Amino acid sequence: MREGADAPRSTAARHRRWILVAAVAQNGVIGRNNELPWRLSSDLRRFKRMTMGHCLLMGRRTFESIGKPLPGRQTVVLTHHPPPGHWPEEIDVVHDLRQVEQVVEDGRDIMVVGGARLYDQVWRRCDEFWITRVLADVEGDVHFPDVNWADWRLVHRETTDAGPQDQWPTEFQIWQPQQKSARQ
Ligand SMILES: NC(=O)c1ccc[n+]([C@@H]2O[C@H](COP(=O)([O-])OP(=O)(O)OC[C@H]3O[C@@H](n4cnc5c(N)ncnc54)[C@H](OP(=O)(O)O)[C@@H]3O)[C@@H](O)[C@H]2O)c1
Repeated sequence: MREGADAPRSTAARHRRWILVAAVAQNGVIGRNNELPWRLSSDLRRFKRMTMGHCLLMGRRTFESIGKPLPGRQTVVLTHHPPPGHWPEEIDVVHDLRQVEQVVEDGRDIMVVGGARLYDQVWRRCDEFWITRVLADVEGDVHFPDVNWADWRLVHRETTDAGPQDQWPTEFQIWQPQQKSARQ
């Protein structure tokens, strides 16, 4: 496991995109008891396809909920504490958002994959939101932040009916800032 300053620094000059990826119920719920509050296999397949090859940035609670690094992607976990010894070697641990760009490997965009505590801190600086709207009100204990949607514009939407392994239908949406100042 590599921690903050020990990790190799990226020398990539190109702009690295920060993309917020979340599945959000109609009532804003995103989680319950440190798990996802639904079974949506179609969306998990889309998540895998769209994040493959990139970097997944997540809070410590989300990492513990997933339990392992996801194959084919770099995993960066934020925590204020030293990483427990049982965390796998291949994850990168950072203690501050300012360290993130230093550890992300060249050529990878940063997919901010939750949870709520992390979304709260980064949504304003993201280049895009990839939001799966779960078309139901769902019981839960963590919510998507209170985004000022007037500063964002919907550039893509795509509805998916509930398949045999999906609890709910969904609408996948891509949002971009109305103008750069929306992210300041
Ligand atoms: N629906 C979705 O798309 C989605 C996606 C992801 C997660 N979720 C759900 O969301 C829930 C988890 O979200 P959560 O808000 O409870 O937790 P979280 O954001 O996953 O993790 C919070 C933890 O991350 C660390 N952290 C956050 N910001 C930090 C910073 N600036 N510097 C250092 N450390 C930082 C802290 O860890 P330490 O306490 O170790 O310091 C903090 O306690 C679960 O239910 C999960 O299933 C849903």
